[in-house]
Amino acid sequence: MNTDILIVGGDGDLALRKLYPALYYLKLNACMPENTRIFGMARTPSEQVAFLAKVKEWLIAYSAANLFNEDTWLEFSKTLTFVQGDSTKPDDLKRIKETHFGENHELIIYLAVPPLIFGKIATSLELCGLAKPTTRIVVEKPLGDSKESFLAINAELARVFSEKQLFRIDHYLGKETVQNLMALRFANDIFEPIWNSKHIDNIQITVTETVGAGNRWDFYDETGAMRDMIQNHLLQVLCLVAMEPPADLDADSVRSEKLKVLRCLKPITAEDIEGCTVRGQYAAGHAEGQDVPGYLEEEEGARESNTETFVALKLEIANWRWSGTPIYIRTGKRLNRRHSEIVIEFKQNKSKLFTKQLTQNCANQLIIHLQPDEGIHIRMKNKKAGLDANMQLEDRYMDLSFSDNAKAKKHDAYTRMFYDVIRNNQTLFVSAGEVEAAWEWVDQIFAGWKAKNQKVMPYVAGSQGPEAAVELLSREGRRWIDG
Ligand code: BG6
Repeated sequence: MNTDILIVGGDGDLALRKLYPALYYLKLNACMPENTRIFGMARTPSEQVAFLAKVKEWLIAYSAANLFNEDTWLEFSKTLTFVQGDSTKPDDLKRIKETHFGENHELIIYLAVPPLIFGKIATSLELCGLAKPTTRIVVEKPLGDSKESFLAINAELARVFSEKQLFRIDHYLGKETVQNLMALRFANDIFEPIWNSKHIDNIQITVTETVGAGNRWDFYDETGAMRDMIQNHLLQVLCLVAMEPPADLDADSVRSEKLKVLRCLKPITAEDIEGCTVRGQYAAGHAEGQDVPGYLEEEEGARESNTETFVALKLEIANWRWSGTPIYIRTGKRLNRRHSEIVIEFKQNKSKLFTKQLTQNCANQLIIHLQPDEGIHIRMKNKKAGLDANMQLEDRYMDLSFSDNAKAKKHDAYTRMFYDVIRNNQTLFVSAGEVEAAWEWVDQIFAGWKAKNQKVMPYVAGSQGPEAAVELLSREGRRWIDG
């Protein structure tokens, strides 16, 4: 059966910056099933020629270096059609259906629009007969801004579509190294016996960015770092780091293990708020090689806001494997570098053999880089070559760099996610239960911030974030490891 892809919000930022390039990469990798047609739907009318010119312009601007070529574009552009209409209006969808969609095409609908209108769109799709049992719906985070709002949005979608038809995207799960976590943990037997609180001192997950809120200010101000990054991307990465081996690699098995992790997150209540959380907001500074305004002065001037652009948390997973292991996660905008990594710091050996040589912070570490470079490093102690009577030790890193993989790579996380929707594989998509559990945990932190009236701490753009984030670890004798 042939596949049609309908992108609602087809002239928006997400579609232009991520979705068309991802589909183009599928073509480039010869992975786009034959006869697949792509429809970009928007309310604002556009001529087909102008639409294609715009998609091409953004593709060139946002596609990875050297991946654009005219021949592939020509082939790809033949599959692209602009359709004008309002997806909340059944008559508009009916018109599009009658003009373009035959009976023997499977339909994938990507809702690249705010979740507030998902319910209306679902009803329109139902009324015009596009909500067939084979139809798949792809939705983006943030799904709501609390557990309550998520459940309301989800109920509207679930009234029309079954869970098997709903693909909740978290593009971090499409990143190669994030998927590689499963291979690292479950295809290499050496890690399993030591992957627990007996051997691991602490876990750190860092996702820092140099960009600011910029032209997404209004959206960002409603969202903040907690809802934009922690509730979804960082918690999902944490799930893959911490979950038990799934029974299989299918969606049900993997998602149920991730859900168990989320449900075991120890609540951070108002009493723990000061000791376990840091909220920051960037002030003017220097980032990306230039002077940049503070969050409150972005775009057109002075505003007030207590929205966090930085969050650091200390958390715990209260289960047999992890109880007692602190987990530190942090994310923020306008920091000193764009850098995402997972660090597993092992406990230090109690042996007295090398007490002179081993100073305080010299534990073995497993460092998994997600971006900008992908790779895995293991920090080891090594004997320095030489004739010294006292065996001298040095820090060395065993390096499993994926730079060759990266060179060969002709896709991004969204490509992987799209391909899985086309293949009807939900393993990398987030279940309703997971989103609900993540909100439940995050909601408590918001309640704690509110109860304690916790204000954001300013940090200079281009810095490492608020000093309090360093103290979160240093008061326990630890430090952030910046691989
Ligand atoms: C998005 C957030 O989900 O992820 C953005 O909304 C953020 O604020 C982006 O910049 C980061 O994604 P990546 O893949 O560039 O790390």
